[in-house]
Amino acid sequence: MISRRIWAAAAFGVAFAASAWGQAANWPTRPITLVVPFAAGGPTDVVARTLGASMTRTLGQTVVVENRLGAGGTIATAAVARANPDGYTFFIHHTGMATAPALYRKLPFNPLTDFEFVSQAVEVPMTLLARKDFPPNNFPEFAAYVKANAAKINLANAGLGAVSQLCGMLLEKSLGVKVTSVPFQGTAPAMQALLGGQVDILCDQTTQTLPQIKGGKVKFYGVTTPARIKVMPEAPTLAEQGLKGFEVVVWHGIYAPKGTPKPILEKMNAAVRTALKDPMVVQRMAEMGAEIVPDSQLTPEALQVKLKTEIDKWGPIIKAAGAFAD
Ligand code: MLT
Repeated sequence: MISRRIWAAAAFGVAFAASAWGQAANWPTRPITLVVPFAAGGPTDVVARTLGASMTRTLGQTVVVENRLGAGGTIATAAVARANPDGYTFFIHHTGMATAPALYRKLPFNPLTDFEFVSQAVEVPMTLLARKDFPPNNFPEFAAYVKANAAKINLANAGLGAVSQLCGMLLEKSLGVKVTSVPFQGTAPAMQALLGGQVDILCDQTTQTLPQIKGGKVKFYGVTTPARIKVMPEAPTLAEQGLKGFEVVVWHGIYAPKGTPKPILEKMNAAVRTALKDPMVVQRMAEMGAEIVPDSQLTPEALQVKLKTEIDKWGPIIKAAGAFAD
């Protein structure tokens, strides 16, 4: 009786593995969802849609971007962690995947163990902006003004877990001030509030901010990278203007729910690599100031190492800054 059960279980296992393999061999046979944890039209969304359009051509099925908003990206991350690992749900997230464990006391997912790793994609600088009629005209004036008026200044961000929040928090710490944080569900709506003059300051990625800076629609005080950036070489870094060691470079990675079949992950990795070489993607990313990650870093293992390294890097910094949510 027992041996009959073992045989039945073994036969079921073989049949299941064969069907998973068959499913993977034909993949994809229907549209693929790429979940974005922030609002449409913002920095993460624009990277997802640029890659998704190219991957759609490679894979022969539409890559549909789905924006799942809330809690600085953690609602989408939790949803993807629980999603069916059938190869039709993928997730793009940035540095926030590494900062969430330090920012939230209770998190309904583990970034290192609840996901499969597909690939890194791009790195993006951030820029420090204010509404057009904000009084300071350069960074030294900005620092002095913010220190003198902190109690009445609003800083827009995309919630605890967003890089706009991380950048703002580091800025507060560097200047030794506390301003009022105004969270949005992405920096696309935060930018609208800045352009409308409803908020004072926003720290956001070049993938969204360059047209506003170049069009003179906002006040611009500097970039957050350690060195000046190719797309706007005339722009000073915040570090060179006195914020020694101030550095935020936003990196983006692509993930899948844990248990997604390996052959599908491999095909998805190949599609991401193809997209990152697609001349249209290369041009668009360059225009937005996004640097494509070198080939050697486009393996799942490299993404896993990057995530672990960044969790270890940001944890102590966030703890020292004292920003937590339950
Ligand atoms: C977005 O896509 O809206 C931004 O990446 C949010 C953020 O600041 O992290």
